[in-house]
Amino acid sequence: MAEPTKTATLAFGDKVIDLPVHSPTLGPDVIDIRKLYAQGDVFTYDPGFTSTAACESAITYIDGEKGELLYRGYPIEQLAEQSNYLEVCYLLLYGNLPNAAQLADFEQRVTRHTMVHEQMHYFFRGFRRDSHPMATMVGVVGAMSAFYHDSLDINDEWQREVAAIRMIAKLPTIAAMAYKYSIGQPFVYPKNGLGYAGNLLHMCFSVPAEEYVVNPVLATAMDRIMMLHADHEQNASTSTVRLAGSSGANPFACIAAGIACLWGPAHGGANQACLEMLRGIGTVDRIPEYIRRAKDKDDPFRLMGFGHRVYKNFDPRAKVMKQSADEVLDLMGIHNNPTLQVAKELERIALEDDYFVSKKLYPNVDFYSGIILDAMGFPTAMFTPIFALSRTVGWISQWKEMIADPTQKIGRPRQLYIGERQRNYIPVANR
Ligand code: CMC
Repeated sequence: MAEPTKTATLAFGDKVIDLPVHSPTLGPDVIDIRKLYAQGDVFTYDPGFTSTAACESAITYIDGEKGELLYRGYPIEQLAEQSNYLEVCYLLLYGNLPNAAQLADFEQRVTRHTMVHEQMHYFFRGFRRDSHPMATMVGVVGAMSAFYHDSLDINDEWQREVAAIRMIAKLPTIAAMAYKYSIGQPFVYPKNGLGYAGNLLHMCFSVPAEEYVVNPVLATAMDRIMMLHADHEQNASTSTVRLAGSSGANPFACIAAGIACLWGPAHGGANQACLEMLRGIGTVDRIPEYIRRAKDKDDPFRLMGFGHRVYKNFDPRAKVMKQSADEVLDLMGIHNNPTLQVAKELERIALEDDYFVSKKLYPNVDFYSGIILDAMGFPTAMFTPIFALSRTVGWISQWKEMIADPTQKIGRPRQLYIGERQRNYIPVANR
């Protein structure tokens, strides 16, 4: 950590405490309160971490006001246009873009780990057929720690690397297996001659009974979805991975924790929730009713796929995704189905309506990704698993960064206790 350049002074009661202030490469200054409790016998209160940096990181930067997202300094728009998912994985994991030899070596390493241990096939069979693929993924990724004992030692750099490659390589296979299992079709083995995104499509959509040819437009759109979801600094699931990892938990257990957190509808589950909402609205004439509900403080309903904690002008991922959505819908010849009509009208109204404009609630990445995945033929239950496998590289990069950080400590927030003061136990007969 660079030496602090400024000081902030906190005065309360009869105490005056000087706190160091760090200046990041980008973004607002950060007041370092690590010594606050020791010096001032006081905690800070910030549920939801709206003003708290929980770590140092050099991986991803978001400027919510400008609608900017950088992976290792590179704008997401440039990467989405010119790069590909595996190159972005390399960039996130190792800090710089690879040269041709490094990229070829990385692709080879990932490709050679795409199969899962054959015994895992039996493990899947323990799940109910109608399990949500995210439920299966939380279990199976956690269970990787029971299968890959030679990459569990977090203090061994080589084992950390092997665990990282294994997860990046196997998550598409596991997600596709979870899907195939849920629809009663046989598992499809990966085909290493296909690209990373094409392979996912193959494992999800091919069946032994007939030939499946990956459509390059769909493979490119899938690759782009993966790039756009690859990392997003300290969001809820990434923070979960870091918190789980801070105790020394093994990498597979940490990523399983991230998948569990991602599943929530306020986070990665929003893409499924959004498409289900669009279908629930059904027809354009019902939109005003849903807009009214979204604005009603007494109604818990929210417009799924709108709003973001950090982006307050637009979500740069959504811009790229919207373009991809148009390409995929064109290819699939989907121009006017009712869900799409509802989506377009909702987008138009929300971008003009005073409530949404004044609260800066723009369509986020999940609004468009659900539309694309639906057009590709994925059921809604697979939307969040695709987000999860795409985000795995981000989680691992952040986890590796944390493990390598010498100042890393177990995460242990404090609390503002509002419960009973100490009281004496009363035997049940006297209560
Ligand atoms: N529909 C209607 N009103 C909303 C919405 C929405 N989608 N989102 C926020 N608001 C209102 C909210 O009621 C509040 O109003 P007021 O100031 O009058 O109390 C105001 O906007 C600020 O909302 P907030 O809950 O304080 O904002 P937050 O930063 O805590 O929540 C969010 C961010 C993404 C959880 C929220 O906008 C939301 O629930 N959106 C829908 C779910 C969604 O699409 N999530 C995916 C996020 S992008 C992918 C990812 O990163 O996982």
